[in-house]
Amino acid sequence: MARFTLPRDLYHGKGAMEALKTFKGKKAMICVGGGSMKKFGFLDKAIAYLKEAGMEVELFEGIEPDPSVETVMRGAEAMRKFEPDWIVAMGGGSPIDAAQAMCNKDEHPECTFEDMCKVFGIPALRNKAHFCAISSTSGTATEVTAFAVITDYAKGIKYPLADFEITPDVAIVDPDLAETMPKKLVAHTGMDAMTHAIEAYVSTAHCNYTDPLALHAIRMIQSDLVPSYEGDMAKRDAMHDAQCLAGMAFSNALLGIVHSMAHKTGAAFAEYGAHIIHGAANAMYLPKVIAFNAKDPEAKKRYGEIADFMQLGGANDDEKVELLIKHLRGMNDALNIPQCIKHYGADSYPCEQGFVPEDVFLAKLHDIAVNAIADACTGSNPRQPSVEEMEKLLKCCYYDTEVDF
Ligand SMILES: NC(=O)c1ccc[n+]([C@@H]2O[C@H](COP(=O)([O-])OP(=O)(O)OC[C@H]3O[C@@H](n4cnc5c(N)ncnc54)[C@H](O)[C@@H]3O)[C@@H](O)[C@H]2O)c1
Ligand SMILES: [Zn+2]
Repeated sequence: MARFTLPRDLYHGKGAMEALKTFKGKKAMICVGGGSMKKFGFLDKAIAYLKEAGMEVELFEGIEPDPSVETVMRGAEAMRKFEPDWIVAMGGGSPIDAAQAMCNKDEHPECTFEDMCKVFGIPALRNKAHFCAISSTSGTATEVTAFAVITDYAKGIKYPLADFEITPDVAIVDPDLAETMPKKLVAHTGMDAMTHAIEAYVSTAHCNYTDPLALHAIRMIQSDLVPSYEGDMAKRDAMHDAQCLAGMAFSNALLGIVHSMAHKTGAAFAEYGAHIIHGAANAMYLPKVIAFNAKDPEAKKRYGEIADFMQLGGANDDEKVELLIKHLRGMNDALNIPQCIKHYGADSYPCEQGFVPEDVFLAKLHDIAVNAIADACTGSNPRQPSVEEMEKLLKCCYYDTEVDF
């Protein structure tokens, strides 16, 4: 038996945020990040709509990008005090993920962070509050997913929490919010979405319900992401839907080792002054992982199907895989994303020597490989790497060398 779970309601299209006016309850807590929602007026709108619905509104502000365990604990405490009927999380993946984890801690204070990290180990929620997610970036699709990514900074590791219990009750996909994204965020979140769709399509857990969502998302992202990056707002709006379709696919089909590697490298070099931003990490690793996974005949066939759907040409599956890799690398170039960690600058742009020194990378390589294999996303990857293979693959991602194993 397999399960396919999505939010009960999804409001989409320009102005969809007005759906908040129809919510029933007495109290709502809005969880937001560092200020972009306030700056562009979306926070005030949300407050006004919820007040129009007759609710008392409290804010939990300042959730940082790549939210920490400590922030989750603070937010849960605030929820315990305020006792909201609705939790409305607005922003990118970071505040929405943090709010999802806060809800869990609020309802089950005995649940430790380690408990939350057990895959499908989250206890029953919705006894206290319902959860609405309003996405402002076009990538993580956390408004529809059963995942939340929280960073343990003491360990320098990102942990994906995974359980259908944390799938939001209501998702609002209003493209107005995506129109204020700076270019770099468009690029990174867009390639995150492309990675979600491709990993979902080749995942061992894919099914008839997830395949069409993944394929349609891939084709939309292929045609819409670069023009959106270049400022075409109609394409920007379309990308907001495309990333959500990709999210519906991967929330049910799961992901693969591109995400395992991104989770375990993201914060690993934080003491050198930067993160490897989630979407950029995926964009760099995806072509390498495709080359690795394509040694598995079934995965190769499915990459070939993706290439066909994208109308990339190619006479056989080997050629199709090559063309798919070439196309994705071309998208990275068009989006000003480096092709490898060595050339990943502290500002995320390509440069000759990036912020991760070679000796530091090599010193941490073994631990990162071990952690990546233990990541929750590895189990559904079509080819299971050994630690040695994972180390080799990560090296290819550092130096941009060919994957021939
Ligand atoms: N839950 C999931 O399924 C899932 C999937 C992939 C990634 N993630 C996680 O999500 C996080 C990344 O989320 P993200 O990429 O959405 O970015 P984010 O939430 O970290 O936001 C990045 C920055 O963009 C700003 N911002 C957000 N929306 C904006 C807008 N519309 N206009 C202007 N500025 C805006 C924010 O204020 C912030 O400074 C990572 O922690 C990643 O690991 C989660
Ligand atoms: Zn992702």
